[in-house]
Order: sequence, then structure tokens, then C-alpha cells
Amino acid sequence: MYGITGYSNGYHQNQQQHSSEEKRGGGRRRRGGRRSRHPPGFRVSDHHHYHYNNDDDDDKQEQKAPLPCTDFDMAYFHSYAHVGIHEEMIKDRVRTDTYRAAIMEHQSFIEGKVVMDVGCGTGILSIFCAQAGAKRVYAVDASDIALQANEVVKANNLAEKIIVLHGRVEDVEIDEEVDVIISEWMGYMLLYESMLGSVITARDRWLKHGGLILPSNATLYMAPITHPDRYNDSIEFWRNVYGIDMSAMLQLAKQCAFEEPCVETITGENVLTWPHVHVDCYTIQHDELESVSTRYKFQSMMRAPLHGFAFWFDVEFNGPTNSPTNNHIPSLLTGASNNNHIDGIQKKKRANPNEALVLSTAPEDPPTHWQQTLIYFYDPIEVEQDQVIEGSLTLSQSKENRRFMNIHLEYSSGGRSYVKESVMR
Ligand SMILES: C[S@@+](CC[C@H](N)C(=O)[O-])C[C@H]1O[C@@H](n2cnc3c(N)ncnc32)[C@H](O)[C@@H]1O
Repeated sequence: MYGITGYSNGYHQNQQQHSSEEKRGGGRRRRGGRRSRHPPGFRVSDHHHYHYNNDDDDDKQEQKAPLPCTDFDMAYFHSYAHVGIHEEMIKDRVRTDTYRAAIMEHQSFIEGKVVMDVGCGTGILSIFCAQAGAKRVYAVDASDIALQANEVVKANNLAEKIIVLHGRVEDVEIDEEVDVIISEWMGYMLLYESMLGSVITARDRWLKHGGLILPSNATLYMAPITHPDRYNDSIEFWRNVYGIDMSAMLQLAKQCAFEEPCVETITGENVLTWPHVHVDCYTIQHDELESVSTRYKFQSMMRAPLHGFAFWFDVEFNGPTNSPTNNHIPSLLTGASNNNHIDGIQKKKRANPNEALVLSTAPEDPPTHWQQTLIYFYDPIEVEQDQVIEGSLTLSQSKENRRFMNIHLEYSSGGRSYVKESVMR
């Protein structure tokens, strides 16, 4: 899944390399799309309607009133009505094959069970679950893409098994609990797009005790990077343009190139030290998503200019029995607390004690449509081998639009401290 400006999900046509601003430039659209043709919670079929915004007071629904659907949310759902974003996601074979493999790996759990696909899009994951033997699949999507999903389901003779609900997970009603929740909710820097909250809502409303959530946990990584080519290409370039000194452009170039996070691909060669910081959450709750903080401390493996930080994530597909926190409320994100300090040992990759299937967006792994997210400094910092780089990171939902993410990065090295604030829109 994605992130964006105007699009709210990160899909942009005519994508280019480099900064997210450039990347977004080609396909940028205005916010505030048209309203959905149906009210929330409408079953996409000829004769069945589902209730929505029902005030039933049973245990699961007592939790919390759902967040209202704002104009920003409507624009976000509208962005998912475009075929291009689904084409790009489905063509991301690392993503789609890993989901299918995870479903097949848990086939014995899924067979004969009730599944909910949170944000079904074209219905592809729902169909994989039906193929794995699910008794019934509730395929929920608030975007008009649900209408297409329903056609796809019918064309594959799965209408008896897959019930497409066109509405927000927060608003639709179903008459039973589910055994499995599947969702592809991950945004850039994992949390961008704020879809995880909807998975939590579905979990708390319908998942049976001991049920399965795919993916079961997720980790966000960060690493300091050096990227001279990128810096030279966007900044140093202005020093000599066809023999003309255009250094007067430097400040503007830095501002424009590096103000916002950039979605682009880096390689292991850019990484100054392998990551040792992760942001994990145990049995995550809605309020924990509002702001996630961590402290970090790295030691550079080489002498090089430090240009910024790269971020990526992975998700694991553990079964319910492997999940360390699957007691009363199954965890969605598991691992260490979200206030980690590193302890000095730098590992290239984290251990995977459960040998779970992992969908990774790391620079050393096969590329995905998420690429990596880069936060560049306006000016590089020269670091020596073994020099310490430390600070803190806070990711918080924007008050203006919770689909946007505020990034507060503090870093210090060589006795100097810096702060970089950016917004991922
Ligand atoms: C990243 S796409 C995944 C689509 C599909 N599951 C796939 O894997 O190809 C996420 C989908 O979730 C939908 N979505 C996001 N939040 C939702 C919510 N609260 N209720 C219903 N649908 C939602 C979006 O409209 C979008 O179609």
C-alpha cells in the first residue's frame, strides 16, 4: 500500500525517481473526490443490504465510537478507485506472492473458517482465501473499487463464498464473528496512511479469541545513509550549469529536494551502518498509533558524508499460536516496546526466531513498490569511522488529516545537534 499528496495513498502516475515531490508531480490530483455512490455498509449485490452505523451494544462493539469519515477520508477512498494503484500493487510480486504464500501456509487454519479482508481492493486476497478453503469471506472496502471487486468475485463463481461490502470497516455490520482477518494495510514508513487503525477496529469488533491476523506483526527500521550521487545530482549540480555559476539556487534546491520524505530505492552501499532500531508495538491500540517515538544510536561503519536516514519495514505472517501476545486480544504489531534504545551490537538483519514468512521492503531484499523512504538533511554531516550518530524519532498522525504523518527527527553527531521536521502528505 501507499502514501501521497492529494492522492492520500501514494499512487502517482508518471512516476519518476528521486524526491517524493518529483515522484508525485506527474500524477498529482486535487483532494476532495466525489462521494461514494452508496452509503457506508452497502453490500454489493442485487438484493442484500447490510445495516451500517448500528448502535448494538454487544461486548465487541462497546469499545469506542468509530472515527467520523472526513472529507480527507473520502478523498483517500476515492484515490483507491483508480485502476492504476491496484495494478501497481498486484504487479508487485514480492507483495502479492508473499500474501498468497502466507494464506497457503495457514491453509489448515483458514479451511472452513470465516475471514474478513479489511480493504479488499480488487478482491485478490479474498479470492486467495476462498481458494484456500475459507467457508465465507467478508471483503470490505469503502472505495468504489468494491464494485469492481464484486464483479471479479462473480466472474470467478465465488459469489456464494465472498460477500463484498462497500463501506468502511468502521461502519459495516456483519452478523457473526470471524476466525481470520487479512489486510494489506502498510504505508510508506509502515504507518503512513493510517490504515492500521481500521484493522484494529475490525479485530476488536469481530475477531474470535485465538483468531488469526495476517500479517501478525510488523517492524519499522531506520539506518543512516550516505548518498553522494543523489546529493550531487540534486544539489551540487547547481554549482556549474553549462559553465554558469548557479550557486544562488542551492538553498532553494535543498529546500525543494529535501523538505519532504522521498520514496526511492537505495542499496546496501548507501547504508552507513546496518539498522538496529525498530519500532514495534505490542497489542497495539488506537491511541498508540497517534504518536510513536523511539531513540536510536548508531556507529558509522566508515568515513563518509551522512546525508540522512532511510526507513523501511517488514511484516511477519505468524500463526496465532506463534504470536507472543495472542492472549485475549491478538496483537497486530509485536516485538519490543516502542521506546527502544540500541545496545551497541549492529546486526545486518534481525533474527526471525519463529521462522515466519516475512514480507520485507529492506534495501538488500528484492524491490517492492514501497521502495524505501528517505529523509535527507539539507546539508550532509561528515562522519568518521566509528563516530556515533544518535537522537530520536517521533512519527505522529497529523492533526489536520490523520492520513498524513508528521516526522520529528532529532540527530546529533560530532558534538552538534540538529532537528528536522517534515510531513508526509
Ligand atoms: C493497499 S489497498 C489493498 C487492496 C487489496 N487488499 C490488495 O491487497 O490488493 C487498501 C484498500 O483498503 C481500503 N481501505 C482503507 N481503509 C479502509 C476502511 N477503513 N474501510 C474499508 N476499506 C478501507 C482502500 O480503499 C484500499 O482499497
